[in-house]
Amino acid sequence: MCGIVGYTGPQSAITPLIEGLRRLEYRGYDSAGIALGTANRLFIEKRAGKLLNLESALTATPPVANSGIGHTRWATHGGPTDRNAHPHVDNEGKLAVIHNGIIENYTQLRADLEARGHVFTSETDTESVAHLLSDLRKSHNGDLSAAMREAVKSLRGSFTLLAIHADQPEVIVGVRRNSPLVVGLGNKENFLASDVAAFIDYTKRAVELGQDEVVTITPVGIEITDLEGNKLVPKEYEITWDSSAAQKGGFTHFMLKEIFEQPKAVADTLLGRINADDHIVLDELHLTNDEIKSLKKIVVLACGTAFHAGMIAKYAIEKWAQITVEVELASEFRYRDPLVDSQTLVIAISQSGETMDTLMALRHAKSLGARILAVCNTNSSTIPRESDAVLYTHAGPEIAVASTKAFLTQVIAVYLIGLHLAQTRGVMTGHQVREIFEEMSELPAKIEQILETVEPLRELTRGFKDSNSVLFLGRHVGFPVALEGALKLKELAYMHAEGFAGGELKHGPIALIEEGTPVIAILPFGHEHGLDEKMLSNVQEVKARGARVIVIAREGAEVTGAEHIIRIPSASSLLQPILATVPLQVFAYEMAVVRGNDVDQPRNLAKSVTVE
Ligand code: G6P
Repeated sequence: MCGIVGYTGPQSAITPLIEGLRRLEYRGYDSAGIALGTANRLFIEKRAGKLLNLESALTATPPVANSGIGHTRWATHGGPTDRNAHPHVDNEGKLAVIHNGIIENYTQLRADLEARGHVFTSETDTESVAHLLSDLRKSHNGDLSAAMREAVKSLRGSFTLLAIHADQPEVIVGVRRNSPLVVGLGNKENFLASDVAAFIDYTKRAVELGQDEVVTITPVGIEITDLEGNKLVPKEYEITWDSSAAQKGGFTHFMLKEIFEQPKAVADTLLGRINADDHIVLDELHLTNDEIKSLKKIVVLACGTAFHAGMIAKYAIEKWAQITVEVELASEFRYRDPLVDSQTLVIAISQSGETMDTLMALRHAKSLGARILAVCNTNSSTIPRESDAVLYTHAGPEIAVASTKAFLTQVIAVYLIGLHLAQTRGVMTGHQVREIFEEMSELPAKIEQILETVEPLRELTRGFKDSNSVLFLGRHVGFPVALEGALKLKELAYMHAEGFAGGELKHGPIALIEEGTPVIAILPFGHEHGLDEKMLSNVQEVKARGARVIVIAREGAEVTGAEHIIRIPSASSLLQPILATVPLQVFAYEMAVVRGNDVDQPRNLAKSVTVE
């Protein structure tokens, strides 16, 4: 992970660099640092902890420079100390490097470089690149771009690297392999960053970089080459969202803002998805109807919250499209021998489109012949680029580390895929598809309704702030919702939280219940299969053992045994997760606030996990 930014142009570089880092802090916040290109020397400042520490250090000695690179770190190799913070420099202090990813062969590189007399000052894998580039630059007559091309050939792993040298401070060189890097094209100024959010205030013109492409930026131009030095034509595109989308807009936290954006995010994801003939419209699905009909199974791959969206997908797609759906954690799928072939459709779900575990699993599936459909929230990110097809969720930028609006839109997206497959395979008629779609279109207003009435829930949450552990119970689609509720609470409140399938309670988890243990039960939805009644029995079982039970139930559902009932609007069972998740997000949010935690940047986490 880590966030990376580079600037070269007429302005004082410190402003775009610090602003860019602030926008990229979601990628990691263990330390931050910058290198500025002042005449004949580099100015370096780096500090452990959040960006604020770096900013305080800089106010004491504000440097003036027109170019520089900046980094915000999620530590992998070497603890989060000042010394291990990026940038890392060569022994002359003239060449600085920042890095996102992991250099897998750094131990060997370091040994070779030390044998040649280089002295290392950190425990990072990155520092070896600074020393290597320094040597290669000399052997390429001071050409930093040529040195970078050469260096990359001997690196293994995943990386985005930016480098700057004091002798030509206006030149910044970058490269990417399995890690993101975009170029921002300004007016007599240019930018490099892990994500367009870093420079959206300055320009909406961006250029994508492919795998193993080296980019050189100066104030007046950019040049992209492959590793052999062949020039490549830049692929320019327009950034469609506004910088206000990446600001808090009056909310105390990004997470709260994003929770409240959910009605719009869901509505936007549904927009234009059905045509007059009652057919679901996907962005691009390069599968013929015959190929869809011949599919034998679907495998959903994802991590974290996106995995929970995948679990919900299984219930809907199997019911609607009558096809087997397996859901697997990407990190597990990657290292086994799955039974996947050309009649398998893999759905890779990822908000960021950069999660390394998901990307590696996708490549594994692809190598076995599977067709890949990505569900993604980030345009032109690596996962959709490497997929056969993509369905974009239109949640807008999600900044808070804990995912909220992206999750709801992922569920909507996989439902659209389910309906499309059902119709194409002849299992559902256009009329049936239209009916479900129309019910989905009512969800934004229903989410709005939940959000208008969250105050009592926030107050209730505060009463549980000293609990040691919170358990979540659900059945059917309520089970993944329970898992998501527990994950949110762990991430944000740092409380022990577990989600269980109601039926499993008696097989072990019930032993965790003691006097006063909060249990949140997601009542399944309607009397289908008698699940409401079964969940209410679970409620009685935990209550009898001292639990304090909160039940999330649809309006009108009969509830017994609960200390508190949170009502959500009615919807058919498969659509209920979209509604039932919202109070759980608010519960976790409020718990984090009342426990004094950093809501948007929870400890030890990062939003985009670009290492395996
Ligand atoms: C990280 C984030 C989670 C997210 C997961 C998958 O662990 O902290 O919030 O759900 O990555 O991210 P993706 O971008 O692939 O959806």
